[in-house]
Amino acid sequence: MCGIFGYIGHRKSAAEIVLEGLKVLEYRGYDSWGIALLESKTDETKIIVKKKVGKIGDAKISDLPAGHFAFGHTRWATHGGVTEINAHPHLDCTSQFALIHNGIIENYDEIKKELEKKGHRFISETDTEVAVHLIEDNYKQLVTVYQDRQTAFRESVRKAFKRFAGLSAIIVMDSKTNTFVAVKNGSPLVIGKGEGENLLASDAHALFPYTRQVYFMEDDELVMIDKEAISVYRLDTGRSKTVQFAVLNWKSSNVQKGRFPHFMLKEIFDQPQVLQEIIHHAGGQVETLHKLIKHSYGTYLVGCGTAAYACLAGTYLFSKIAKRHIKFSVGSEFGYLVDFLTDKSLVIALSQSGETIDVIEAVKKAKEKKSKIGSLVNVEGSTLYRISDTPLLLGAGVEKAVVSTKAFTAKLAYLILVAYSLAENPAEGKKALLTSYKAVNKVLEETNLKIIRKLAKELIKKDHIYIIGRGLSFPVTLETALKIKEASYLHAEGFAAGELKHGAIALVEKNTPCIVFLPNDETYGASLAGAMEMKARGGKIIGISYKPHEIFDEFLSFDDCGAASIIPAAVIGQLLGYYLAIARGIDPDKPRNLAKSVTVK
Ligand code: AGP
Repeated sequence: MCGIFGYIGHRKSAAEIVLEGLKVLEYRGYDSWGIALLESKTDETKIIVKKKVGKIGDAKISDLPAGHFAFGHTRWATHGGVTEINAHPHLDCTSQFALIHNGIIENYDEIKKELEKKGHRFISETDTEVAVHLIEDNYKQLVTVYQDRQTAFRESVRKAFKRFAGLSAIIVMDSKTNTFVAVKNGSPLVIGKGEGENLLASDAHALFPYTRQVYFMEDDELVMIDKEAISVYRLDTGRSKTVQFAVLNWKSSNVQKGRFPHFMLKEIFDQPQVLQEIIHHAGGQVETLHKLIKHSYGTYLVGCGTAAYACLAGTYLFSKIAKRHIKFSVGSEFGYLVDFLTDKSLVIALSQSGETIDVIEAVKKAKEKKSKIGSLVNVEGSTLYRISDTPLLLGAGVEKAVVSTKAFTAKLAYLILVAYSLAENPAEGKKALLTSYKAVNKVLEETNLKIIRKLAKELIKKDHIYIIGRGLSFPVTLETALKIKEASYLHAEGFAAGELKHGAIALVEKNTPCIVFLPNDETYGASLAGAMEMKARGGKIIGISYKPHEIFDEFLSFDDCGAASIIPAAVIGQLLGYYLAIARGIDPDKPRNLAKSVTVK
């Protein structure tokens, strides 16, 4: 989702600073970008705007003059097509104000009609442009009310924001007072305090080249920033509030691809090391989760996308290993399932970014029920990390690829360890993970990669790929299908193998590729029967298993790791998604329409 970066300070290279900041935020996914700069060489200051469709790449902004005050935005289109005009920043009629926005203004239409009647002229199709014109309209009245222009500006923004329905973060630049005003509810915004310079961004890592002294804005707060000062106000009353800045000693997110052609492949290869880290250092956090679950009356796992499939795997792991029932819901559906939550309930949110709005909304609903909130996130200081009663860190290392891989297996590793801990058999959990560590290393050997690459070249000619599994393998079928879809844009669908005969098998034709997960567990026979049913209808069977079988037309192997077999099996699915993308000439690190963290509903 959209990336935001702003700078005001002693350096004259504000435009370059903003462009570099936007590049750090590219992982959030976008389809256009723009920068607004306050030109400072003439006495009549004016805002210059540069916008482009497409990726920043090696864009040059040498045509932008020097300046101390600039901000920029990478847009993931929600309202209005992907065009230069719809890219942010947006200006008001007088060009005194420029505005960038992350989120959705649900009632923009009624506000736009009201402003058009007052003579405001709109040039874009966006909801965002309504915000800057409403602020301009407010300012015309309030500048006569408040002696101080900065106050008039701040109150104009506050009054406008309170009218917006939906979740948003907006940042407004005022060319008259050389001030930013930022307001948020829902989308993340972090303020950075430097020496003679101040910054703001969607993600703290983007601020690190200039400062580690940061403030994570809370919802319904307004911040006013100029070169010297940062002031925080309550959105509801407009009264100022004192806040604490944190000094972050995080490792920089500035990881490189190294010897790998893509972040996705690098992060697939990071997994053995991540597993080792978890095996040797997760004990304290596993104990914490164990106690939380033990002392709750009802545990609910919530996540989205890949994280949701980790949650689903958790329900099987806790049942099979800990003989404990836990429930699961995808974040966007959780709100319709909360009525049974109590103050004895425990909700554990799984999220790589810690910024997925559907999960954050789910957690907020659970907090209204006074339920306890645990979370397993990969980004310290993320929104989810900060709103959880017991935030825990996955420790998977920075995951830059939009297509999540190592964060998924890290979640599985934690769930396996917690399940065995609850079964009073922690050593068995470590042993299973150690076996999976070795199995993943074998999956990553060149001989195996060659088989997967060859298979990918055959599969790209197909329109559909079906994947079946049972029990613990069922979440892996869903996750594998997601990897294939989001990395290669090929249609893939995962099914519980038992569901085939209830309709899905109608899809199988001659040579339809049918992937079947067959670990060495109680599901083997029944899933094999499912594969045979598909074979009988012409399906091409791709067996992913710990041993070959005569019905397999292709065989991808992983070593038996007991319940942890889902980890090497998932890695094979990740590699298949990656090599299908490569075979189709798609950059897996920049999948169309997707963002690394989905911060809009
Ligand atoms: C994963 O490959 C996808 N990019 C997506 O499903 C992702 O898992 C989902 O949006 C949840 O993200 P989170 O883990 O950061 O909350």
